[in-house]
Amino acid sequence: MKSKEQIAKDLKGRDFLSITQLSKEELYYILDLAADIKDKFKKGEPYKVLKGKTLGMIFAKPSTRTRISFEVGTFQLGGHPLYLRQDELQMGRGETIGDTAQVLSRFLDGIMIRTFSHQEVVELADNSSIPVINGLTDLLHPCQILADLLTIKEKKGHLEGLKMTYIGDGNNVVHSLINASALVGMDMGVVTPPGYEPDEGIVQEAKEKAMEGKAKITIGNELEGIVEGSDIIYTDVWTSMGQEEETQARLKVFKGYQINSDVMKMVKEDALVMHCLPAHRGEEITAEVLDGPNSIIFDQAENRLHAQKGLLAALL
Ligand code: CP
Ligand code: NVA
Repeated sequence: MKSKEQIAKDLKGRDFLSITQLSKEELYYILDLAADIKDKFKKGEPYKVLKGKTLGMIFAKPSTRTRISFEVGTFQLGGHPLYLRQDELQMGRGETIGDTAQVLSRFLDGIMIRTFSHQEVVELADNSSIPVINGLTDLLHPCQILADLLTIKEKKGHLEGLKMTYIGDGNNVVHSLINASALVGMDMGVVTPPGYEPDEGIVQEAKEKAMEGKAKITIGNELEGIVEGSDIIYTDVWTSMGQEEETQARLKVFKGYQINSDVMKMVKEDALVMHCLPAHRGEEITAEVLDGPNSIIFDQAENRLHAQKGLLAALL
């Protein structure tokens, strides 16, 4: 086992593009640091580890939580956040990602990017000499899952041995959840309509990893046989950013893949209801469940701020 000091040293300057880039002890280190920074914040104790540092935040897609939590979080840590719309950078006019990465590395101390292609973020990271953080791609949403794990840990006291079931589209959010479940030893069920399953490569890799921790990963198209007895039930929008032209078709296909009061009868009585937000009440989740007693959705949203402060403090 590595010492805390060694883990801290190993994390400095690293990129965070995927949960799979972290070891289990590194993940727990970030979650513990986040909890500690949250505690200080709630007590009003300043924690200004980013003093004099600037985080550039590139956005090619809209955002409420990611933008505001990174912007406010960087400020609270004593640093300066810089909001950069991708279409207002020269990148939007064809400057290469490699050149952009090299230039930004001369100005900034870290980059957060939300865009479409995951490969672009990998290229940005490969050409940057400063940490690059994935603020969502079509493939993954690892910052969301850091906040989710922090929230589950607060509510349940631990992660290992829990059973989570995700109902909905096999998208970026569930990909990162699958990555995380394998790492922390959480059983993971995923129920999607046929043809909307999560990426096979991600599932395969997680299954191999999960075996070591004895967690189970189950993918299927029927709620029955997967959802029963879940400690956590999770969903996300049926139509992700960039898929808008599929909205009508998806509304038909995903009918029946909704978290509602019937589904709540299948899970444990004290099961936590989670959603990364933004939500479409009446589509992937009913208003009754979203606003109901099992929902921890707004605590989960708040923890975007605290989890990412832990991440920024660790990497920058
Ligand atoms: N959950 C999430 O990433 O929300 P935003 O799209 O508002 O950033
Ligand atoms: N899957 C959603 C997540 C939004 C935070 C999307 O990519 O639009």
